Amino acid sequence: MANTATIEINGQKNELPLIKGTENEIAIDITKLRSATEGVITVDPGYKNTGSCESAITFLDGEKGILRYRGYSIEELAEKADFLEVAYLLIFGELPTKEQNDKFHDDIKAESIVDEDVKKILDAFPKAAHPMGVISSLTSALTAFNPSSVNVDSEEDMYKSVVRILGKFPVLVAWTFRKKEGLPLDYGDNSLGYVENILKMMFVKPNGEYTQNQILVDALDKLLILHADHEQNCSTSTVRIVGSSHAGLFASLSAGISALWGPLHGGANQAVLEMLEAIKADGGDTKKYMAKAKDKSDPFRLMGFGHRVYKNFDPRARIIKKAADEVLGDLGIDDPILDIAKGLEKEALEDQYFVDRRLYPNVDFYSGIIYRGMGIPTDMFTVMFALGRLPGWIAQWREMRLRKEPIGRPRQVYIGETAREFVPIEKR
Ligand code: SDX
Repeated sequence: MANTATIEINGQKNELPLIKGTENEIAIDITKLRSATEGVITVDPGYKNTGSCESAITFLDGEKGILRYRGYSIEELAEKADFLEVAYLLIFGELPTKEQNDKFHDDIKAESIVDEDVKKILDAFPKAAHPMGVISSLTSALTAFNPSSVNVDSEEDMYKSVVRILGKFPVLVAWTFRKKEGLPLDYGDNSLGYVENILKMMFVKPNGEYTQNQILVDALDKLLILHADHEQNCSTSTVRIVGSSHAGLFASLSAGISALWGPLHGGANQAVLEMLEAIKADGGDTKKYMAKAKDKSDPFRLMGFGHRVYKNFDPRARIIKKAADEVLGDLGIDDPILDIAKGLEKEALEDQYFVDRRLYPNVDFYSGIIYRGMGIPTDMFTVMFALGRLPGWIAQWREMRLRKEPIGRPRQVYIGETAREFVPIEKR
């Protein structure tokens, strides 16, 4: 392979170096383009063809439907690992030994107390507030209670921040949920596993014994693993660019949560359930919604379908679809919404519009059906996505800071008015 690309502008040829990744992806290094061409830049709205960084955390192959965290396939991790192991793998680069894993969990437990004053911030929100707005605010507020920003050059300092947010975020998630439900806030029980404790903090009732349901623990553990990272998606890119100004970790994560909220991104899992409910209320008329999705004059999209990278099945959607059958079956839930989802998927995969555009179910298409079966309300689905994505955001933020990447500051092509004289108001 040649190691440069030639670009000719106004008769002048420029050689630009090519970069090749460990999975043989090739990129043109344009870091010197502007200086070599007296100001020429590239433009790529939505960054569909533009890489923002080199990263060693997650690899996707959209054509083949491959997803690996630090080289391990998502299928193996979902089957054989637990969420805390995967969090450790993403952040520190290797699967933990038993001792490392136990210490990691102990250090996280030691950080699982949230300052009581955070409850005053939570109380200021109306019950009807969307949980994503609440959790984003509470995450940013954590900075006020843990003021020192992370000294990334100190392994110990960085590790402390990692376990601090992994300890406190599940508490904020549980409190956000319980506030909505009108339940007293609960701290859970540090004698439990990480995911077991999340479920207990969310669902324990003040007036009765709490019984763990292993089906729910296993289902949530798997869902969190499947959501844990996904290379340079919208919210991860947000976390990286906010962190590139050397804003703190919690502030960067809060920004990522806001980006995830959008219905084109993590908010799609809520939008999918609302769409399926609408179809059900409409007598299950999937054809009407398929027609709406294809009608360019209609802003409606088939939520949970399509992906910027995957032009084949999202491997996570395959796993979640199978898990939905298993979990609802084990729980004895016969949810007609699952049948509508499967019917819609079948229709879309046979429809030329979707086939031509290579639109397949993505991670958000079936996940909400499992959350609903677990008793989680629809507007909490994206908070559960954020809970899973947290270690990925941390890993990507840490990598960006350790690689001392420059502050993110894109260029633009100006298309506004050229220079003109000011006109006094009496003459306008
Ligand atoms: C996530 O990036 C990640 O990795 C994200 C994520 C992660 O783990 O972080 O995987 C999580 O966000 C998954 C995506 C969840 N979003 C949705 O399900 C919302 C519905 N999907 C679409 O809005 C869309 O598919 C996107 C946003 C996911 C991707 O959009 P792109 O890559 O910008 O593609 P596009 O909008 O340019 O669409 C290409 C064509 C267009 O038609 P034409 O103009 O070519 O005729 O496909 C059409 C679009 O209109 N299209 C759809 C569609 N998705 C794309 N038409 C109907 N329904 C859809 N869902």
